[in-house]
Amino acid sequence: MKLQEKVVVITGGGNGMGRELVLQALKRGARVAALDIRQESLDEVASIANAGDRLSTHLANIAERDRVAELPDEVIAHHGAVDCIINNAGIIQPFVDVSEVGFDIVDRVINVNLHGTINMTKTFLPHLLKRPEGHVLNVSSMGGFIPFPGQSIYGAAKAGVKLLTEGLYAELLETNVGVSIAMPGAIGTDIVKNSGAGDISADADGGGHKTLAPADAAKIMLDGIERNRFYIYVGSDAKFMSFLRRIAPQWAVRFIQKQMKNIAR
Ligand SMILES: NC(=O)c1ccc[n+]([C@@H]2O[C@H](COP(=O)([O-])OP(=O)(O)OC[C@H]3O[C@@H](n4cnc5c(N)ncnc54)[C@H](O)[C@@H]3O)[C@@H](O)[C@H]2O)c1
Repeated sequence: MKLQEKVVVITGGGNGMGRELVLQALKRGARVAALDIRQESLDEVASIANAGDRLSTHLANIAERDRVAELPDEVIAHHGAVDCIINNAGIIQPFVDVSEVGFDIVDRVINVNLHGTINMTKTFLPHLLKRPEGHVLNVSSMGGFIPFPGQSIYGAAKAGVKLLTEGLYAELLETNVGVSIAMPGAIGTDIVKNSGAGDISADADGGGHKTLAPADAAKIMLDGIERNRFYIYVGSDAKFMSFLRRIAPQWAVRFIQKQMKNIAR
């Protein structure tokens, strides 16, 4: 789906990849509704974008179903329609093994990453189906197809996002709505801090390896929407691990396990 003149809802639009998605979608001629749980981040992105009424901002927690239910009316009142949703908002967990992780963290990580994505998708899908052309991009993770020790709950939520999105793709094949899954590798954002995941120097999905810039990640995702790609691998690490997992699954798991030993937990 070409983004020019389309209305795109972007969750987690205040920081990291979401912020870059907002700025670049605007540059591609889209109208954007940016959603975030942090008002100050929304204010920042609005001031950077300086896009007038082509950008609206919406304070919302995607895990709160009642709040999500109000959003289509808000977005349509401002922009007149909604053509595309990008479910990008997400949080990681503290680097703790399953045996040690608290149920409060389990619930939060599943609620935001999986239920949040389901809430947004179910709420906006009826509106997308009414448009001449629509698109859903869900952001999963490299951690959604290969396990990262210490991030197993996050990985389970992101694997859920992946399967949910694959199911949506199949269900919507004969409709006007295209579906994409993004699988980023390690991206240079503040996700560890923003998620309240502790104070570690290594990044969440990459164990301290070289990271891709959020602007490059956003470009890859928006190109993926415009080319109607099903799978969008974001970064050479995600591409490589996807390949390795298929040709040598056990070896691939051990390889990541070794990398993750660098992260104290
Ligand atoms: N950074 C990485 O290495 C990496 C790798 C793979 C996948 N991802 C995924 O990419 C997405 C974006 O991550 P990022 O690195 O840009 O993170 P980030 O922390 O920089 O940005 C995430 C944004 O989502 C917002 N947010 C968090 N919880 C929310 C909620 N409940 N409701 C609404 N907004 C909420 C945050 O306030 C923040 O603005 C996430 O889904 C993440 O899991 C990140």
